[in-house]
Amino acid sequence: MAAFASSLPLHHRWLRWPWPALGLWLSAGVALRLLVAQGAPALPCVIGLSGLCAVMAWRASTPWRRGLAAAGFPASVLASGMLGDVPAVGWLLPLGLLLLAYPLRSWSDAPIYPTPREALSALPGSLHLPTTARILDAGCGMGHGLRAWHRLYPQARIEGVEWSPLWSTVARLCCPWAQVRRGDLWADDWSALDVVYVFQRPESMPRVWEKAQREMKRGATLVSLAFEVPGVPTAALFETVPGRAVHIYRMPGRPRSGLKSASSSADMQNTKTSAPCEGSTPSTATSQDRTPIPCS
Ligand SMILES: C[S@@+](CC[C@H](N)C(=O)[O-])C[C@H]1O[C@@H](n2cnc3c(N)ncnc32)[C@H](O)[C@@H]1O
Repeated sequence: MAAFASSLPLHHRWLRWPWPALGLWLSAGVALRLLVAQGAPALPCVIGLSGLCAVMAWRASTPWRRGLAAAGFPASVLASGMLGDVPAVGWLLPLGLLLLAYPLRSWSDAPIYPTPREALSALPGSLHLPTTARILDAGCGMGHGLRAWHRLYPQARIEGVEWSPLWSTVARLCCPWAQVRRGDLWADDWSALDVVYVFQRPESMPRVWEKAQREMKRGATLVSLAFEVPGVPTAALFETVPGRAVHIYRMPGRPRSGLKSASSSADMQNTKTSAPCEGSTPSTATSQDRTPIPCS
């Protein structure tokens, strides 16, 4: 099945999500109309075409996308009333919940996918922050990343921004010590932050880097879980959860008058090429260095 699915064009680089899924649902809908117009019984056609959609959805890049691509066609048939009347609430409710959890704007970035509990645990060995540091989880979902940062830097001011009304409410309730807002991560100003943490998707990383370079102060830190900024050397890199490497970037930025150089506020230690700072916890995982950074 995987071999068949891989020959299908659902994951073509010219077809940006969600267009492949919309194309799939539309094609299945047209095929159903044609078959029924030829006298084929509706229910077996719906079942067969839904199965075909599920096979094609196999090629989508994440579990969420696979689920959405597979479920869209049967959901649209139910909604159309073709198989009998489904009470409006039967499809409006799941659709409403889906839109609350995964609103349209976040379709071009990552859907909800929590930071694993131990993924960031080696950070204090690489990243030294003052107690007053401001840390933003850009796209904070249900707050797993917020909690991971709070455990590691309990004195820091932890902030989160999340586009989904549902997840931003959950994060606010689960992390009362954090400042959680509902908003668009791209609309935020990152200039006063010491750390921006992202767990988005590979395609978002060039835009994240562009924004970080434009807005973040010198010496501030960009931390990305799982996805690297293409072509940009990390200041440190470790992986405590398989497949969830932590990429750490130090912002060169332009010095600004009146702003203290942040190199004194966010000192990064490279665990591969330099000895651990006294009192710090050395990273237990692999670390790559391209820019040696002195311990404070
Ligand atoms: C992979 S999850 C990461 C969640 C959280 N940072 C964590 O690590 O546990 C990505 C989150 O980013 C949110 N998101 C995607 N695009 C966004 C945008 N433009 N503005 C704000 N949040 C966004 C999604 O709704 C989702 O909750």
